[in-house]
Amino acid sequence: MNVENIAYACLTRFVENGEGSREALHWVDTDLSEQIYSFEYFDRESSRVAAILKQLGIVPGDTVSIFIPRSPILISAFFGVQKAMGISCILFGTLGEEGLLDRLSNSNAKIVITRKSLLRKITAIKDKLPALQQILTIDHDDHQSDSVLSLRKLMTETDPIFDYPRWVDAETPAFLQYTSGSTGKPKGALHVHGALGDMRQSFRDIMQLEADDLYWCTADPAWITGIVYGILAPFGTGARQVQYSGTYNADNWLKTLETLKVNIWYTAPTALRMLMQEDENKFTQHDFSSLKRMYSVGEPLNPEIYHWGRKVFKVEIYDTWWQSETGSMMIGNHPPMTVKPGSMGKPRAGVEAFICNDDMQLQPDGKQGLLCLRKGWGSMFRTYFHNEAAYSDKFKNSIYITGDLAYRDEEGYFWYVSRADDVINTAGHLVGPFEVESALLEIEEIVDVAVIGADDPLLHKRIIAFVKLRNDQTWSKELELKCRIYVSNKVSTTAIPAEFHVIDSVPKNQSGKILRRVLKAIYEGKDPGDTSTME
Ligand code: PRX
Repeated sequence: MNVENIAYACLTRFVENGEGSREALHWVDTDLSEQIYSFEYFDRESSRVAAILKQLGIVPGDTVSIFIPRSPILISAFFGVQKAMGISCILFGTLGEEGLLDRLSNSNAKIVITRKSLLRKITAIKDKLPALQQILTIDHDDHQSDSVLSLRKLMTETDPIFDYPRWVDAETPAFLQYTSGSTGKPKGALHVHGALGDMRQSFRDIMQLEADDLYWCTADPAWITGIVYGILAPFGTGARQVQYSGTYNADNWLKTLETLKVNIWYTAPTALRMLMQEDENKFTQHDFSSLKRMYSVGEPLNPEIYHWGRKVFKVEIYDTWWQSETGSMMIGNHPPMTVKPGSMGKPRAGVEAFICNDDMQLQPDGKQGLLCLRKGWGSMFRTYFHNEAAYSDKFKNSIYITGDLAYRDEEGYFWYVSRADDVINTAGHLVGPFEVESALLEIEEIVDVAVIGADDPLLHKRIIAFVKLRNDQTWSKELELKCRIYVSNKVSTTAIPAEFHVIDSVPKNQSGKILRRVLKAIYEGKDPGDTSTME
């Protein structure tokens, strides 16, 4: 089956329909200066990027990694890769060397688009990336060397004309989204051009924007929410949207909501919890009367934040549940549903969600178990890139096992319980304990380590590291700092443990698997339960 190329559906189509000058993005910088970009602007700029990529040897199916912070040029680069029929992979600037190396090597990135301040991270690992042919920087005026070229300069020298296939096979790879598992390296969920249909439909069904509504998704485009509901769905449906350049900033966020008269706001529980810590007067100083609805994703929207948000913003808050792998919202709340505070809502039209036990038997309402989805929705990930085994592990026959524990009530509402695996959801970011443990084990003072997540009032979970020191070593502030910097440089700043605890030995079972539940129980002061399989 053929579908519109993502870049055609999101950009060129508007230009061809005579709607190119329509507002696609209202950009707000950290100094609150504003800039409006049209569909035509992104169509033009992405054509320049595509032409440059082709000139540099990118052919269909090649990966181009985009390692820059959220910005209009990131959007042009993403669509440029789509026009060149490449696979785009947007990465967080917070990634450390090892985290970056894992993703760039697994994705076989041929070109990385980056900026001056992040260049050092790539040059440090370049020798380990045989597929990497070129680095393009967005903020150098001139080329730095044969392998580090200035994208900015190339853009000024390139015509905004690029002929690309408007129609592509629905299964054509479009982008990769890396996500962490409980074991092994991060996995790249591969999404295809055919996924856009579900992304648009879910956006319409759940967000329900009316003509002229202004929409704001606060998620970073390196996160699945930022790419799907910050770029693809709003562009693909021709929505008016605002984006704020920086990360969380209470004053600027509240001013943006008020002055731009945002109508529909998609954000995350951690952001709401951070806002909840601000002085209450901040909220009464602003007029949020343009706001119609708020939506949330990424972590449980606890009743406490839900009620606080409703009180302060005076609108309903609709929680939504989905994953990097699902490509679009699977379960959610939306008008005219009655929201049950704390529930993720109901599967959206066309999605079949249910609860199974470990033997994949359907569980009755009220009984907790594995949250599963019937395989086959359009935006489903097509594989984990170069890791077919991990992909197969997520399925039992035609059932996708999400990795979350949940239950369904008699009225069909789903309730999140926890992850079914060891992945730690800290401030909405999934961190694999294995990645943090591997990094800490490289520190000479440490001989063994185990990492778990513990409940946190702000972050949902915070990362706790248990370390066993070499015999001649003692724990010190300096060693703690060394560990923190090491994890940040190696893995990512989001993976830095909040606490370190020294232990005599890491509890493991007879086959050497870390018994995280025992550590969790010890940490929480509870009974560790059955320890008969311990080494
Ligand atoms: O554990 C669930 C949690 O985030 C996981 C997916 O993370 P990621 O692939 O990074 O995508 C996040 C944004 C789509 C899920 O397996 N999660 C997501 N939404 C919710 C949630 N946990 C509780 N409630 C939610 N609404």
